[in-house]
Amino acid sequence: MPDDDVFKQFKEHSIAEFFKKNRQMLGFTGKVRSMTIIVHEIVTNSLDACEEAGVLPDIFVQVDELDKEKEHYRLTIKDNGPGIPRSHLGKALGQMLAGTKFHRYLQQRGQQGIGAAACTMFSYLTTGQPTKAVSVYKGKKLTASIGIDFKQNKPVVEVIEEVDASEGESGLTFISEFKDVRYERSNYGVYEYLRRTALANPHCAITLIEPEGRSTAFPRSVIVNPSKPTEIKPHPLGIGTHDLLEFARQNREKRRLSSFLQETFSRVSAGKIDELRALLPNVDLNKNPQDLSWEEAEALVKAFSQVKWIAPATDSLVPIGKDQVEVSFRNIFNPEVLVVTERSPKVYRGGIPFMVEVGIAYGGGVAEAGKKGEVMRFANRVPLLFDSGGCAITETIKTMDWKRYDVKDFEEEPIAVLVNLISVHVPYTSAGKQAVSPEEDVMDEIKFAIMEASRGVQKYLSGKRKAHEIATKKKVVSRYIQQLSGDLSSLTGEKKADIEKALTKIVEEKYAREDMEVEETAETGPETGNGKPDADNEGEE
Ligand SMILES: Nc1ncnc2c1ncn2[C@@H]1O[C@H](COP(=O)(O)OP(=O)(O)OP(=O)(O)O)[C@@H](O)[C@H]1O
Ligand SMILES: [Mg+2]
Repeated sequence: MPDDDVFKQFKEHSIAEFFKKNRQMLGFTGKVRSMTIIVHEIVTNSLDACEEAGVLPDIFVQVDELDKEKEHYRLTIKDNGPGIPRSHLGKALGQMLAGTKFHRYLQQRGQQGIGAAACTMFSYLTTGQPTKAVSVYKGKKLTASIGIDFKQNKPVVEVIEEVDASEGESGLTFISEFKDVRYERSNYGVYEYLRRTALANPHCAITLIEPEGRSTAFPRSVIVNPSKPTEIKPHPLGIGTHDLLEFARQNREKRRLSSFLQETFSRVSAGKIDELRALLPNVDLNKNPQDLSWEEAEALVKAFSQVKWIAPATDSLVPIGKDQVEVSFRNIFNPEVLVVTERSPKVYRGGIPFMVEVGIAYGGGVAEAGKKGEVMRFANRVPLLFDSGGCAITETIKTMDWKRYDVKDFEEEPIAVLVNLISVHVPYTSAGKQAVSPEEDVMDEIKFAIMEASRGVQKYLSGKRKAHEIATKKKVVSRYIQQLSGDLSSLTGEKKADIEKALTKIVEEKYAREDMEVEETAETGPETGNGKPDADNEGEE
């Protein structure tokens, strides 16, 4: 066959076809995992939608086993959010790379525009059935079936019914059948996923109905939504040449490059424009942004890196919060020691804000529950149950020098570590969104946060160990007082009771002093320090 014939095979394909062939990249590997991934995608959408609409989330998840032998299930997931308008329902649930989140710099659970359509796809591929959606949006209740045209990556929508919604009805219900999945109550199953979701989202109420009809309620423990993260503009330091050109081409409003830069990116003030002007004598900052050339954009991006910027606004990030992590951890484990960090936001890739919160629980209920070296990973409050091997969080925990913190063997001790990474864009390793990629700045901050919490645990453990040593020594020495007082009394003629009293006083004072020294050492603890400035302090106005 001549060489050029191969191009007769040349074809274009859509993203839907790509993921049809590579569903493992979306997390669909293994039956139990696939079931959890579906629940994860739909529930995260519900939580995002409720929070954006300012509604306290009420999520209902029902798993029905339709045929045990064929491992055929139906999943019904209902929320009380705002629903999806008829005009967007098909695209939202049946088109990949479509949604309200990908293009925004906003802390949300979803960020790709793939998750819902991936579930619709998986249902279709394993059962040949479309997915059913009931959406109550602005008083209208729409029931539709949604499939996917894989070749075009387009939804196939069939409206079944549209009626006026009843009083109080709201939200989206996703009803879909699946094979090649299995329901199991394991560490990787739906139950554990929802339990952890409830832990990190105390404002959320979840009900789960398992296949045998067993109903579990994860009630909300706070009755207010977390404060809404603010949407931010991209920071100049996180922008590449191509991004800049794309923003410039899309711009329809600003006629001057200088005002476009100020409007489009965060922290670009008139003063910064002057600095850029001085650095770029050959770029006309009054020109129309639409006419920006690649070379000019490249020069601008280079100049961005030479200017000192104030870091991105940090109110774009909303953590679970120290108090809430403490309450949740106590509810689950009631540990002997509990330390939760409260750290300030940082940035990675120059301009993307992120924050890490860590809670460490040790002993007490952790030991009673038989947990050892338990790691609970979260990203924007979403539990990450899979791909722990390639995750920056697990890697960091593995490489920690735990002995330094009086934890002899992490895997064998009653310790549970919760890490929640919050960002306007979580750097996941893949479209399956189960592991955080090892970005250097992110890894560093995870490490510093864990070190900070570990120091608190260490203080407690070393104090406890030393107190135990002192008590043992005191007990041993006290045993000799009786004998020694008798002997000294016969040698000196003094009363035995007086000698005994004096010796007891000496021993008490000595060990009371040692006890105090232990407390003082525990107060100072070993030095860790993060050696990095907080985002708030970086740069200048
Ligand atoms: N329960 C829901 N209520 C309201 N809107 C929803 C709901 N579920 C999905 N949507 C809309 O559908 C869009 C597509 O959802 P999808 O899960 O595919 O992507 P995403 O959540 O934006 O990102 P990701 O792929 O990371 O999950 C969302 O961006 C949102 O606008
Ligand atoms: Mg989603």
